[in-house]
Amino acid sequence: MSDSQNTRLAELEAEILALKSELLHAQKVASVGMLATSITHEFNNILMTVINYAKMGIRHKDPATREKAFDKILAAGQRASKITTGMLSYARRQADRREPTDLVNLLEDVLVLVEKDLQMHRVRVETRYEHKPQANINASQIQQVVLNLIVNARQAMANGGSLIVTVRSNIAEGFGEISIRDTGCGIPAEQLKEIFKPYYSTKTRDSQGQGGTGLGLALAREVMESHGGRIRVESAPGKGTAFTLKLPLAGISQAVIPVAPAPPITIPVA
Ligand SMILES: Nc1ncnc2c1ncn2[C@@H]1O[C@H](COP(=O)(O)OP(=O)(O)O)[C@@H](O)[C@H]1O
Ligand SMILES: [Mg+2]
Repeated sequence: MSDSQNTRLAELEAEILALKSELLHAQKVASVGMLATSITHEFNNILMTVINYAKMGIRHKDPATREKAFDKILAAGQRASKITTGMLSYARRQADRREPTDLVNLLEDVLVLVEKDLQMHRVRVETRYEHKPQANINASQIQQVVLNLIVNARQAMANGGSLIVTVRSNIAEGFGEISIRDTGCGIPAEQLKEIFKPYYSTKTRDSQGQGGTGLGLALAREVMESHGGRIRVESAPGKGTAFTLKLPLAGISQAVIPVAPAPPITIPVA
């Protein structure tokens, strides 16, 4: 290849990288945009709480009632602040850098954003934190993957259901694992090999023009591969689906710190 061809190739490669990063960010903003309705509802509820308890505090002069009103207003304010902090941290564009990150905290930050949406769609959330692994990751990208999986799970449960979120350490394989399981429609065997392909989607756009870009899982796989991790899926049509993310542990010593109450951990003998 000539020098000019080499330069052109390098330019194109840089362009592809930049476009990939743009696509990732655009998909991220779109997925949090999907939650706009439920988050607005939640803020409305919080404001109603604040207004009603403020009125109560003004009307009643006795210290006990006023104290209760202040407590309620404070709790509502703290909840609102948790949500806005979550939104800002989620939408932030993080440099392409990895650092040891607590997977349980990461999940909690995503759950704050989707709680109301799940509740509105009659989905019950169950969290099972077996350990508290630290994985070496780009937290912003992994949050995006987790949000994509949770939104998919919710969409698969049109009539409500359960979302079971598990975090554990897999010391033998050197991974921290997050699994997102739903009791939704499941995925037929012949579709399983298609779902990670870009633009593959079985969803039609709903009345709000949402869903069906087919990019969620393609990006998830890309992010997991760039982390040296894995994404696995198991599904039973009519029963539900489980996606598992395996992320490289940052330090084995931290990974075995259990969260009480913890099941026994088996550490393999080398
Ligand atoms: N939890 C799930 N339950 C059932 N089907 C799923 C689930 N997650 C993904 N799928 C299937 O995989 C397809 C691709 O998912 P995704 O890449 O996120 O694109 P989109 O959500 O835009 O359709 C979905 O259209 C759906 O058919
Ligand atoms: Mg999706």
